[in-house]
Amino acid sequence: MSVRIVLGTQWGDEGKGKVVDILCEESDIVVRYQGGANAGHTVVINNDKFILHLIPTGILHPDKTCVIGNGVVLDLDQLFLELDELKNKGINTNERLFVSDSAHLVMPYHKLIEELNEQNKGEDKIGTTKKGIGPAYLDKIGRTGIRVADLLDSDLFNKKLKLNLELKKSWLANLSYSQLKDLEKESKELLKFKERLLPMVVDSSVYLNNAIKNGKNILFESAQGTLLDIDFGTYPYATPSHTSAGGACIGSGVGPTFIDEVIGVVKAYTTRVGNGPFPTELNEGMGEMLQKKGDEFGATTGRPRRCGWLDLVLLKRSVRINGISKLVITKLDVLDEFETIPVCVGYKCKDKNLDEFPNDIKTLNNCEPVYKEVPGWEESIKGLTNYNDLPDKAKSYLDFIQKRLEVPIFIISTGSKREETIIV
Ligand code: GDP
Ligand code: IMO
Ligand code: MG
Repeated sequence: MSVRIVLGTQWGDEGKGKVVDILCEESDIVVRYQGGANAGHTVVINNDKFILHLIPTGILHPDKTCVIGNGVVLDLDQLFLELDELKNKGINTNERLFVSDSAHLVMPYHKLIEELNEQNKGEDKIGTTKKGIGPAYLDKIGRTGIRVADLLDSDLFNKKLKLNLELKKSWLANLSYSQLKDLEKESKELLKFKERLLPMVVDSSVYLNNAIKNGKNILFESAQGTLLDIDFGTYPYATPSHTSAGGACIGSGVGPTFIDEVIGVVKAYTTRVGNGPFPTELNEGMGEMLQKKGDEFGATTGRPRRCGWLDLVLLKRSVRINGISKLVITKLDVLDEFETIPVCVGYKCKDKNLDEFPNDIKTLNNCEPVYKEVPGWEESIKGLTNYNDLPDKAKSYLDFIQKRLEVPIFIISTGSKREETIIV
């Protein structure tokens, strides 16, 4: 029996989808524990590209079961769209996907409120994915949210919907009467999913703890990255859930004593989508080069990702917060052509040297990265599958990272395809 967490160590899009796809070979159940359809996890199998937003990546393996835990906010339209798309691609999802009865629903008004919220913030907007994630979690914490179990009881659902629309009156004040009616209608339409959803509904805690008792291997798949965590991320430029390892327990009902391993996925450089500080960000020339070589465009919104060099100060924070025991390095091939590769080993903030990532955004905005130049390998490593075939300079780059972070690297990804992988 093993229970492992796979999570992003940076600002998301580290390649978690690909890594989960590989690691779920050794797992029975793959679990999403936070976030919602804001995620975009890409898996490339032969020449087929799959992008999963809500459903755990394990769904692509016919013998694996998937669970959407209580910590996820569920967009039913997106869930069934994704299930239908998988079916059209020949993937049988029957009796393979289970959804927690306690997961909160993302309602049509959440998306609308998020849009207004972002508009009102003007320059200070977060740059969210506009999937309604923030307002859905806000209702959860505000204790007015509508959960999966509520949908199964139409009267209760309608009662809660009425209350929510009443409570959101001030937000929706600018809508016309007919727009408000449409919103109510759209919300009520979610009841059409009741019959399809019913067979999938479980208590994720009971389901997963029984599986653990029966010796099953469980893989938790995080969405987003540690620096987007609501507590440990670059607040307020964060996502409203616990993306870090602790979130796996809260978001599924599995106790911390069952977690055997925390695997941190590190992109060989750094990217970020949306607003917020990014100390090693590169502008124009080099940034665009990384963006182009790494094909850095959001899997959910298509927005170009901001790009910069690897930041070991940030990663040190991620290792500490998550208790990371093993690392996976992805997209190493994107660095193939660089003569030297700068790696951030510290920050300088108003004449002060910092070796810990600051919590406060004002300090962070004043941080200048201190770089160590590591020699590049200047040859293609694309698709390599054997560690010994890596050029010495690529090995040195990896060695530098694992020594500084004091965590071993056990997988290196050399391309987007499943087989373009080195297991160390
Ligand atoms: P996730 O959100 O962490 O699952 O990552 P995304 O899927 O949003 O973004 C990662 C992107 O990099 C996807 O397009 C992957 O297909 C691609 N990718 C993953 N690993 C590698 C790699 O080692 N090399 C290259 N070139 N691309 C990769
Ligand atoms: P995966 O799972 C990268 C970012 C958004 C925005 C901030 C808040 O593919 O790594 P939200 O819609 O969550 O309220 O937006 O978080 N963000 C992501 N960035 N990858 C993701 O997911 C992200 N999910 C949210 O761009 O800056
Ligand atoms: Mg992504």
